[in-house]
Amino acid sequence: MKDATNIAQPDSRRDFVKKLLASVISILVSVVPFGAGLIVLLDPLRRKSSDSGFVRVASLAALPSDGIPRQFPVIATRIDAWNTFSQAPIGAVYLRRTSDGQVQAFNVVCPHAGCNVDFLPEPGHYHCPCHNSTFSVAGKIDDPSSPAARGLDALEVEVRGGEEIWVKYQNFQAGRAEKIPVA
Ligand code: FES
Repeated sequence: MKDATNIAQPDSRRDFVKKLLASVISILVSVVPFGAGLIVLLDPLRRKSSDSGFVRVASLAALPSDGIPRQFPVIATRIDAWNTFSQAPIGAVYLRRTSDGQVQAFNVVCPHAGCNVDFLPEPGHYHCPCHNSTFSVAGKIDDPSSPAARGLDALEVEVRGGEEIWVKYQNFQAGRAEKIPVA
């Protein structure tokens, strides 16, 4: 006579293997989409910009050679962590031609507390309407009583092809004597 327990053993082993496989498959089915979703979600944080930060601001022909600064908007594709804004205003700069034929650029943002400065042709300096800091046409602090701790923030300029003005547009921390880029 056969022992009933010996007959039941292969079935229970098969059941165990089936349950184990089912568990592994259900874990894979739930983990794989979660991992893929996580990669998509974090992708913008992993992505590094290959852009050198230079933006075409104006044509050289649009900048008179009288040495007087002119304000130009900075239009570029703006990317935050999850969105891309195509050709949106990201700031503004003052450009002027210097006596030696170079192009000089300043961020319009006052380094004291972040208001936009105006250029006043008379008396020929920059003035901040918020707390009355003044800056010379070359961007230096004009009045020692100005609350700004540094001059206007000069930006790198390239004249490409002899006709296009490109500026490395950057913002810097306000209220500090040192020029520290905003990350
Ligand atoms: S923000 Fe310009 S002087 Fe204060």
